[in-house]
Amino acid sequence: MVKNICCIGAGYVGGPTMAVIAEMCPEIKVTVVDVNANRIDAWNSADLDKLPIYEPGLAEVVRAARGRNLFFSTDIENAIDEAEIIFMSVNTPTKNYGKGKGMGADLKYIELSARQIAKVAKTDKIVVEKSTLPVRTAAAIKSILDNTGNGVKFQILSNPEFLAEGTAINDLKNADRVLIGGDQTDEGLAAIEKLTAIYVHWIPRHKIIQTNVWSSELSKLTANAFLAQRISSINSISAICEKSGADVDEVARAIGADSRIGAKFLKTSVGFGGSCFQKDILNLVYICKTLGLPEVADYWEQVILMNDYQKHRFADNIITTLYNTVSGKKIAFLGWAFKKDTNDTRETAAMYVADILMNDLAEITAYDPKVNQEQMYADMDYLHSRTEDENRKLLKADTSPYSACKSAHAIAVLTEWDEFISYDWQRIYDNMMKPAFVFDGRNILDHKKLREIGFKVRAIGK
Ligand code: UDX
Ligand code: UDX
Repeated sequence: MVKNICCIGAGYVGGPTMAVIAEMCPEIKVTVVDVNANRIDAWNSADLDKLPIYEPGLAEVVRAARGRNLFFSTDIENAIDEAEIIFMSVNTPTKNYGKGKGMGADLKYIELSARQIAKVAKTDKIVVEKSTLPVRTAAAIKSILDNTGNGVKFQILSNPEFLAEGTAINDLKNADRVLIGGDQTDEGLAAIEKLTAIYVHWIPRHKIIQTNVWSSELSKLTANAFLAQRISSINSISAICEKSGADVDEVARAIGADSRIGAKFLKTSVGFGGSCFQKDILNLVYICKTLGLPEVADYWEQVILMNDYQKHRFADNIITTLYNTVSGKKIAFLGWAFKKDTNDTRETAAMYVADILMNDLAEITAYDPKVNQEQMYADMDYLHSRTEDENRKLLKADTSPYSACKSAHAIAVLTEWDEFISYDWQRIYDNMMKPAFVFDGRNILDHKKLREIGFKVRAIGK
């Protein structure tokens, strides 16, 4: 029975995943390590509101397990030394330099972690890929471990994470399935069983799918590509709806009732964001290209192109509707996070829409219940579209939705936070410039009610 595990990377994936394993397996010591000391301090803070990530239900899990069998530390070497199973959950951003720039995954942190494990390990280890990785990364990790280590034996498993942010704790506790890929040798199968034994503490065995390593790695990319494809598909239909009088929400309901299609992931939007969809599809596209499959690469790339188009369409619609210019006009953003119930803003549609409007010299005031001004500036600076000063001149965060919308020419809803629905919309209307426009990028507001108040409402796909 495994008694000691560790995880390198205390981020959105590593933190919640290890917290749930620790809660469910009180007899296993779980240590989460990270190079970022501030992040580890935040995970250890006495005030559970100060955890580095916001995720419903996470604080309760941390409260139950932290200090008992869940530990957060910067002592990476000691944690590796003690652990029988090491999870790698470091970030794997899209490469922004050299070969594969803008497409392939940057595996430098994975490589660094592998070298660190090789250096420290004195006993046999099972190394688990949690980060989403291109197919056959396990081979690279294995080669580093086998050739730079101290002669100890390593088994590499792929155990991709399927949690979605905002629902991570529920997704982890009630997973549809757990996927574990490993070498189909006696040693590989034994390693798969060891990891399986951890999950069976709370996941029924029939939901644990065991495969070879490559199937597991490819399944993660494929799952995200299929999910994103559904969003791009419905968003493409939303453009037809706007020109034809059909209503995209009605179309989604009608097709989703077909059990072969299913109702989930058919919600039209201003475009999908998040750390995974774009990165993983780009990864898939890059893999197709390197495998000499350009038609397959083009097929999947279209999912991203449609997503870019949707963000542009939304921003262009704002500009056109506001009499072809937003220069000097105040546009209020409700929401900045890439989806509700998270403080994560990676690849959020909001920053791309802001970018397009700021190119037209709009003055944006953004309100998000969980995202602060520093993060918004970091996101805009990351795009490198204009100087940092210009970003700070054109974009401001507000801590109240009512003052964010005050004297605005238009409101754009970028995130589907529940609280937006119950605002005092009459009060918001009274304090806005007229005509008062609402561009609902998530189709969450009561459009009929808003129109009765006097708003001019533009929804997606209607
Ligand atoms: C990451 C990947 O982006 C994703 O592809 C994968 O599926 C899961 O892991 P996430 O947890 O959301 O997702 O990333 P992030 O929140 O950036 O956390 C990664 C952590 O690893 C950071 O806290 C970083 O400091 C840490 N890290 C990175 C290390 O501890 N060591 C390193 O060498 C590099
Ligand atoms: C996704 C996958 O769902 C998860 O399994 C994987 O492990 C990581 O990537 P995440 O990015 O956290 O999770 O969130 P998700 O709920 O999938 O949403 C991604 C984006 O798609 C968000 O911007 C969301 O608003 C958007 N979306 C989702 C839609 O526009 N319409 C939908 O119907 C669903």
